[in-house]
Amino acid sequence: MAGGAIVSTSNKQYGGKMTSFVLLACIMASSGGLIFGYDIGISGGVTSMDSFLESFFPSVFAKQQADASTSQYCKFDSELLTLFTSSLYVAALIASFVASSVTRRVLLGIGIGFANQSVPVYLSEMAPANLRGTLNIGFQLMITVGIFAANLINYGTASIKGGWGWRVSLGLAAVPAIIMSVGAFVLPDTPNSLIERGYGEEARQMLQKIRGTDDVQEEFEDLVAASEEAKTIKSPWSNILQSKYRPQLTMAILIPFFQQLTGINVIMFYAPVLFKTIGFGGEASLASAVITGLVNVFATFVSIATVDKLGRRVLFLQGGAQMFISQVVVGTLIALKFGVSGEATELSKGYASVIVLFICVYVAAFAWSWGPLGWLVPSEIFPLEIRSAGQSITVSVNMFFTFIIAQIFLLALCHMKFGLFYFFAGWVAIMTAFIYFFLPETKNVPIEEIILVWKKHWFWGKFIADEDIHVGNHMHKDTSA
Ligand code: BGC
Repeated sequence: MAGGAIVSTSNKQYGGKMTSFVLLACIMASSGGLIFGYDIGISGGVTSMDSFLESFFPSVFAKQQADASTSQYCKFDSELLTLFTSSLYVAALIASFVASSVTRRVLLGIGIGFANQSVPVYLSEMAPANLRGTLNIGFQLMITVGIFAANLINYGTASIKGGWGWRVSLGLAAVPAIIMSVGAFVLPDTPNSLIERGYGEEARQMLQKIRGTDDVQEEFEDLVAASEEAKTIKSPWSNILQSKYRPQLTMAILIPFFQQLTGINVIMFYAPVLFKTIGFGGEASLASAVITGLVNVFATFVSIATVDKLGRRVLFLQGGAQMFISQVVVGTLIALKFGVSGEATELSKGYASVIVLFICVYVAAFAWSWGPLGWLVPSEIFPLEIRSAGQSITVSVNMFFTFIIAQIFLLALCHMKFGLFYFFAGWVAIMTAFIYFFLPETKNVPIEEIILVWKKHWFWGKFIADEDIHVGNHMHKDTSA
């Protein structure tokens, strides 16, 4: 099967088990996802509130109030309005570049670009290999909780008399920021990070503590070997361009790119706007956003429970198929109702519910596939010497395309109309095929040994020479075991 064979690497099982210490540290680190999620969820709701539009975007407000002859698809089309939503991701993009040169723990305190840079890698380094997926997805879970909290708060503040509710929505972003900053002070460093900075003994003790056993010699040696290897590399940035890192570099760019091209943020940013566009009232729009937000949280648990058993590929492929179907259905339902002219028609309750239902089916699929895996997979495939640079690329590509989607969605909806949903469905088909052929399975493989997985892959294998393999006691040994 193309790219699909489960690779038996060295079958190495490091000692130890999941400890409450590591669980706590991971939960705390994951809270870095809260602020990212809150900011994703808050803008769409705020921009659908009349009082906010009236104060800051009076022309959009006027267009909205206009009679039904304004095409429904174009009701919210405004470059400035989208800039309000998308500006955040430019800031995060810039932060992610600076982030790679500072230590992971310090970074956790400083904003979204920094958090997305450090949290996924932190989680993957802390977790025992056989639970890495589960623990890493804590980050995505917190993102979804942040989005859901924002949906709820928007729903509540929209009804505040006097029209200052949007101030509360925006101001409350301070809460996840505080949680994250406090977390940053108490979080322990990862063993990898300690070794890298020359604290070998502390690293061994940390490893014993997080694995709950004294028997950590083998894993420790592999970490030290990886660190030695990394030290020989002067510049991770030019290094990552070498052909032996081509598989990782390709994934670092394509996975976040594809994640955004699923179209998920059309729903996350603009669900209330979208629901209003297709004729829901103001309150119903925000309420529907609460429903999709809730589905997003719960469906994430599916991936938490299955990612280390079924593996990453099964979730990617199943989720892709489900997203494709639901997007085609949603596009068609909207097409049947509004056609290309986008003239406002009365939307029956039943019809509206079916649209919301299929949007939920789509959100659920994303929540157990591209959502969590879009952060997990990049964080577990880079060898130490290119890990920071690789993660920086992933975060900046993600932020860049989040920005693009946020910026052009309302314009694209106005021009492509229901075809926009087919457009994203097309991308989902492409990315699902890409995963099928090019992403090998990484479940249960210790991070430092993932190079063996690439080496065995039908396509990527040819980029990696035998001499490139220096994993612990596998130095220059035959890797076909
Ligand atoms: C993505 C975000 C998205 C969120 C939805 C994350 O993994 O990076 O862009 O809004 O999932 O839950």
